[in-house]
Amino acid sequence: MPVHRAGQPKVYLDNSSTSFPKPPGVVKAVTEYLEDVGCNLNRTGFATSCVLNKRTREARTRLARLFNYPEFKHVCFTTGITTSLNIALKGLLKRGDHVLISHMEHNAVTRPLFQLRRRGVSFSFIPCASDGTLDPASIPPLLKPNTRAICCLHGSNVCGTILPIRQIGAIAREAGLLFIVDSAQSAGVLPIDMQADNIDVLCFAAHKGLLGPPGVGGLILRPELGSRIEPLVVGGTGVFSEEDKVPDDLPMHLESGTPNLMGYYGLAAALRWLEKTGIERIHAREVELYEHLLAGLQQLDSLCIHGTQDSRTSLCVLAVTAPGLDIGQVAWRLDSKHRVSTRCGLHCAPWANRAIGTWPTGTLRLSPGYFTKPRELDYAVSALEESLWYVRKQTR
Ligand SMILES: Cc1ncc(COP(=O)(O)O)c(C=O)c1O
Repeated sequence: MPVHRAGQPKVYLDNSSTSFPKPPGVVKAVTEYLEDVGCNLNRTGFATSCVLNKRTREARTRLARLFNYPEFKHVCFTTGITTSLNIALKGLLKRGDHVLISHMEHNAVTRPLFQLRRRGVSFSFIPCASDGTLDPASIPPLLKPNTRAICCLHGSNVCGTILPIRQIGAIAREAGLLFIVDSAQSAGVLPIDMQADNIDVLCFAAHKGLLGPPGVGGLILRPELGSRIEPLVVGGTGVFSEEDKVPDDLPMHLESGTPNLMGYYGLAAALRWLEKTGIERIHAREVELYEHLLAGLQQLDSLCIHGTQDSRTSLCVLAVTAPGLDIGQVAWRLDSKHRVSTRCGLHCAPWANRAIGTWPTGTLRLSPGYFTKPRELDYAVSALEESLWYVRKQTR
């Protein structure tokens, strides 16, 4: 069990926020960039930049392969998935357009849309049930003549529920709409096939299920969108500097400024490990951990478990509340007494909490990752039992 503070065990159950630890090779790759490479991308003429180009291309190629997308040049890097979603929504939607989103969305989708609403873009929610599930049959009646896109997450960061992106993608394609997917929680854990799922824009984060470092994310776009999308940020691209506008070619069109190069190195190493290990194996492991933790939590009295409680329809994320108790105090006790790291609150997704009935206080979220051990989950469950008892005693 990794050590948190002198002699104290730490169980890290906040992988939905960011994955920890990272697989072998990631730290070394970040260090390799800083210690041995050090130069800039597309802004230097000397030989070491070739090594850097090779590694950047490797990361793009592996991502294209992971998401079954044929063209690595359409993998555009950003500073993270929040930026990617802002680029996709603000760059593709115009005044008068309408977009449908699920009720489980993160603020990374809803906040840009509330901003866009002030610029004449409208949106409405596709309803979700109290376990977070979405019925694709509810979508067609919500379509309007000016609906241009459907944007939704693949897996909920609040309660783990998986949305049926294949069926949603088919509906989008049939209606001639853009399909924008937020894969923050699912990339690296569930198979995503941009072609079979009819995804036009796939947004991803490096630091969650892809097991890379924070500060890198991206979006993969269908070729015809390259010339249509308005970049959010423009500036130096290192090439075509004589032009007053950024080049139309992807990925440069969306990649102005010096990027997070050590992040690219770390991500390439994480993707190498991911490919070697295999998504099926990672998913199978997470199913095992989910069922183990679920069984443990189900033993605890007066705990309310949210989500589908079924590993076939949920990511390895469990959200709980304890009626009558302040879940924030429980999380504090878990950390301060037992060194178990969880997260409590709305998880940046107020609309999802409204959908599942946990607004306004939110939930305590336990999110194991591939490297979590079943014995750590047993420890966390008994720590949670003690914390619930303790907070209940204080509350009386
Ligand atoms: C579903 C979902 N979308 C978007 C984000 C935003 O990710 P980031 O903060 O890495 O940009 C998160 C982060 O938790 C998320 O869970």
